[in-house]
Amino acid sequence: MKHFLKLLDLTGEEITGLIDLAAELKYKQKNNIPHRYLEGKSVALIFEKASTRTRTSFEVGCYQLGGQGVFLNTNDMQIRRGEPVQDTVRVLSRYFDCVMIRTFKQSYVEDLAKYGTIPIINGLTDFAHPTQVIADLLTIREYKGKLEGLTMCYIGDGNNMANSLTVGALKTGMSMTVVCPEDYRPDASVLEFAKQYGDSFKLCSDPKEGAAGADVLVTDVWTSMGQEEETKKRQTAFKGYQVNEELMALANPGAIVQHCLPAHREEEISAETFEKHAAEIFDEAENRLHAHKAILVELLGRN
Ligand code: CP
Ligand code: NVA
Repeated sequence: MKHFLKLLDLTGEEITGLIDLAAELKYKQKNNIPHRYLEGKSVALIFEKASTRTRTSFEVGCYQLGGQGVFLNTNDMQIRRGEPVQDTVRVLSRYFDCVMIRTFKQSYVEDLAKYGTIPIINGLTDFAHPTQVIADLLTIREYKGKLEGLTMCYIGDGNNMANSLTVGALKTGMSMTVVCPEDYRPDASVLEFAKQYGDSFKLCSDPKEGAAGADVLVTDVWTSMGQEEETKKRQTAFKGYQVNEELMALANPGAIVQHCLPAHREEEISAETFEKHAAEIFDEAENRLHAHKAILVELLGRN
């Protein structure tokens, strides 16, 4: 694996390999088994959008692996003043061993990979949130013992999370249902990709229909970063697309809930359902750390 830009680029085996590696690194960390595979390596952590989990888990992950994470806010970089992506990444390639970036356009991340000479990790774009989905799949596997044959139902905005979950779930043998209003569907490239999975992929606009028979219910904010001006319009459009006890009652017994966080209680998820499934959701948040360490080790090797 040269880069980690979107799950569409990875095979099912590569995704499963990352989940396995994350589980191995989690075990090592919990049992104080040395795993300083990034000794002497530096990773640039570039953020053009806010972050709590991604930033801190990458920083701590680099530290635990014996390497160094350097946080860079684009407001303080020449990127903000228009320095071209080609020049930025050619410079960073001389100092760092890897770049993780959170930004708006997927094309910016793809360009970094094109012009740089070091691995690039997508830490969230408007199109994809692939590091998150490795953590989600690890969490689901921990709770359910497997992924293959399970049904995931995503309810809400057809955003970066819906895109990456759809690809990750289908490539690891899960069935996937996306429930969203007609005007807020996942990206056309993802819908095209999902076609090859036949009946294993469903797109519908009725939350009850989607929740029925699901093993995992997933949701995300109605208004993603960068869409703040649309908040009111979105609150109206997504009314009724809330993961709550009524929907949980239709899911399979023992169904779990995943939410990448931050959550808006009483919008995309009821406070009651959030608290009932808090253990699963915060395990998911913890697993960001282990998933990110796995992605770094996969890309940079074991020193
Ligand atoms: N889920 C997630 O990416 O969280 P942050 O925005 O806090 O990084
Ligand atoms: N869809 C959300 C995810 C946040 C982690 C956003 O892009 O803001």
